[in-house]
Amino acid sequence: MYTGIDCISLNRSFENPPLEILKSINFQIPKGQFVSVTGRSGSGKSTLLYALSGLDKITSGKVLFSGESIHDMPEKQLNHFRNFKMGFVFQFHYLLPEITVLENVLMPARKTNLHKVKEAEARKILEDFSLSHCADKTPGKISGGESQRVSIARALIMRPKYIFADEPTGNLDSANGEKVLALFQKVNQDYKTTILMVTHDAGYAKLAQRTISLNDGQLESDTMNY
Ligand SMILES: Nc1ncnc2c1ncn2[C@@H]1O[C@H](COP(=O)(O)OP(=O)(O)OP(=O)(O)O)[C@@H](O)[C@H]1O
Ligand SMILES: [Mg+2]
Repeated sequence: MYTGIDCISLNRSFENPPLEILKSINFQIPKGQFVSVTGRSGSGKSTLLYALSGLDKITSGKVLFSGESIHDMPEKQLNHFRNFKMGFVFQFHYLLPEITVLENVLMPARKTNLHKVKEAEARKILEDFSLSHCADKTPGKISGGESQRVSIARALIMRPKYIFADEPTGNLDSANGEKVLALFQKVNQDYKTTILMVTHDAGYAKLAQRTISLNDGQLESDTMNY
């Protein structure tokens, strides 16, 4: 059994109009690898990320996490997997505006009733991300770069084995983009987290160990950066 992520002949089509978006994609990602995903707009990067993480369904093929097929998991097991094993970072950070930064970071823990247990850890993550000064503010009172770092802190609170990030630097200036990349590298090294990060930026892509590139829904290249 392969212990990382095994993507086998993955296809994703949309019906109306009929469109093949992902075309027989095959690759394996070893546990603990930091992978960037690049490709032109519309090449299928977000679709791939959602298909791999089970956020979206697939048309055919399989995605295995340590041998377990995510699209064949019963609902309860899938929810458990999502709550405890995966973290997501979206291009738009979707922080809840009415609650504090600390409470936002604790949201995934609240879902599983672990928010009390995790509070000290949430404060520690905020401190590691230079965000302690934001903990008790609402998201409307912090900057865009701070918001994006908060959304990464939120993705990390359950210490997931896998992180999926869709253009986490998309809305950031270069100083904040670099901070976000440094955080991903640190999380990857410190916790051996497997990370898949979509990016348009060739420089950021190279900071991941490996880059997978899509072209028109097909795997175009797959290179090791270091
Ligand atoms: N729900 C949907 N129904 C039909 N077509 C869709 C749907 N979602 C995405 N597509 C199409 O699939 C293709 C790939 O979309 P996707 O969002 O994966 O691209 P992307 O590589 O992430 O692009 P970007 O860099 O602009 O975010 C696009 O042509 C898009 O229009
Ligand atoms: Mg996209």
